[in-house]
Amino acid sequence: MFKTKCWHIRESIDKQVIKEASNMLRDGLTVAFPTETVYGLGADATNEKAVQGIFQAKGRPADNPLIAHVATIEQAKEMVDELPPIAKTLMTHFSPGPITYILPSNGKCATNVTAGLSTIGVRLPDHPVAQALLKECDIPIAAPSANLSGKPSPTTADHVWQDLSGKIAGLVDGGSTGVGLESTVVDCTQDIPIILRPGGITKEQLEQVVGNVMVDPALVHHQSSQKPKSPGMKYTHYAPAVDLWLVSGDAKRIQEIVTEQQANGKRIGVMASTETTVRLQADAIISLGSEHNLGDIAASLYDALRTFKEGDVDLILCETFSEKGIGQAVMNRLTKAATRHI
Ligand code: TXA
Ligand code: MG
Repeated sequence: MFKTKCWHIRESIDKQVIKEASNMLRDGLTVAFPTETVYGLGADATNEKAVQGIFQAKGRPADNPLIAHVATIEQAKEMVDELPPIAKTLMTHFSPGPITYILPSNGKCATNVTAGLSTIGVRLPDHPVAQALLKECDIPIAAPSANLSGKPSPTTADHVWQDLSGKIAGLVDGGSTGVGLESTVVDCTQDIPIILRPGGITKEQLEQVVGNVMVDPALVHHQSSQKPKSPGMKYTHYAPAVDLWLVSGDAKRIQEIVTEQQANGKRIGVMASTETTVRLQADAIISLGSEHNLGDIAASLYDALRTFKEGDVDLILCETFSEKGIGQAVMNRLTKAATRHI
């Protein structure tokens, strides 16, 4: 058990806070901090015992590898014998930013970071607090999303607090994260990059830079028996407190299901675009933003999933969205969170 220390950073970065948090990390403790995607739970990636603290706090399966976070491309290079040309090109265009590169590992990080794999995930986050921390530490920081394993990733310090207070040494509150969904995980060990997890950088953006981009077949065929290449993709994820049903259909169709389920004595929560929610009545309604701005939908998704509480509603209905751009990541997360698709 920890008495979790919480710091608040708003407008300008307080150097004293960064020093204290960085000292904790260097001492082998766990500290949660904001990135541009979601909050991460950090520990010294070169210290096996420190990394163990992350798995313990989250209740994370040991065979699910972690991403090593660094401030600069120079530090990323220290993680590999040689940076694959494709990774170099992508880094020049997209880092710092919401993308993680799977690279051949040279063993600099502790073996529990990579879960024994020969590859390592490396990311350069684009958030002033994350950047300041990583620069001050000057060590690679292993950091999964700072939620309890299985729950939606945290987009505010309050979400982190709900899940991990008393379980981690520190929490730097830097306000809401921007993107709201995790980074795109890209396998850079082959000639053609392969998306293992859709995220903040879209397939279309990657294609503009490198032309041909593949998607892990296990992502495309949700029902297929294909084993995902990203170990984390096989686990239950992003689960809200009650069942979530995805509904492909317009407001009229969603309303029919609401009415039908209410007749069964259920209280129904709906999350949908503003265009849809204005046409609906249910026990609780959360508008995720305009269907014409999938970036807004992505940013509000995890908070919405956490807002519906057991006891308030018995079932959540969510509409489906276009899989263009960031929509691919939105639908990936919703499909994993849902227990049924209508
Ligand atoms: O945006 C993000 O990526 C956030 C912030 C905190 O940086 N981090 C994050 O970490 O989402 P996590 O641990 O929740 O998800 C990492 C994903 C998992 O699906 C994991 O299996 C995959 O990346 N991964 C990590 N190392 C890998 C490797 N060597 N090969 C394949 N997949 C890997
Ligand atoms: Mg996660």
